[in-house]
Amino acid sequence: MRPFIHVNCAMSADGKIAGTDRKQVKISTEEDMLRVRELRSRYDAILVGVGTVVSDDPHLTVKGLDYDTNPIRIVLDPDGRTPDSARVLDGLAPTVMVTRGGCTREWDCEEIVRSGDAIDLNGVLEQLAEDIGIESILVEGGGETISSFFRAGLVDRYSVFVGGLVIGGRDSPTPADGDGWIGGTGVRLALKGSEVLGNGVLLTFEPERPRP
Ligand SMILES: NC(=O)c1ccc[n+]([C@@H]2O[C@H](COP(=O)([O-])OP(=O)(O)OC[C@H]3O[C@@H](n4cnc5c(N)ncnc54)[C@H](OP(=O)(O)O)[C@@H]3O)[C@@H](O)[C@H]2O)c1
Repeated sequence: MRPFIHVNCAMSADGKIAGTDRKQVKISTEEDMLRVRELRSRYDAILVGVGTVVSDDPHLTVKGLDYDTNPIRIVLDPDGRTPDSARVLDGLAPTVMVTRGGCTREWDCEEIVRSGDAIDLNGVLEQLAEDIGIESILVEGGGETISSFFRAGLVDRYSVFVGGLVIGGRDSPTPADGDGWIGGTGVRLALKGSEVLGNGVLLTFEPERPRP
């Protein structure tokens, strides 16, 4: 069975997750950062796309946890663009790199999963569950990655913190970028909760049609 997928991100009051330069912007409040730290520690793995690694160079670790207790870090990187110096490869937690089948790039990490011609998300998730027992994944971004999970019908929970700032810019990334949905039907979500966290609000949704 594939892992449970929870997508979590932070966006500005005008629906952007970073600026037009794609550099990180502080959107979360202290209260939200504490929530994310606690949330991360409850998941088997944290997943991002290579765009986020290149733009933000995140550690994706939880303060106070060691190599064995930190969640596994997973990077979707079809063509092997993650530099060896990236913080996700700092050895503070296990890291799994996911590339397309033809990519021959090597890294010093726990595991490299080479998928088909294009990354087959369903197949990769099932392999991660079978090979290393990953039962739950927190997907943290960016917009292309989150969009690909929604398009594949793989999101079980979506939480978004809406912070008190406007970022603007028609080219600023949003929580779900990519090509959009044919016919404009989108993915219908049911609101499951809302919580004020300092100068912003956390919204939690689940798909109207839960996984079969
Ligand atoms: N506010 C927040 O919560 C938050 C969180 C994370 C990131 N961000 C922001 O988001 C921006 C980065 O987002 P992004 O959309 O540019 O990049 P991204 O989603 O991090 O990475 C996108 C890239 O990852 C690969 N990828 C992702 N999903 C794939 C799939 N299903 N199949 C195959 N390849 C896949 C592709 O690599 P290739 O291009 O090599 O094909 C794709 O172009 C940055 O500005 C960052 O600051 C914000």
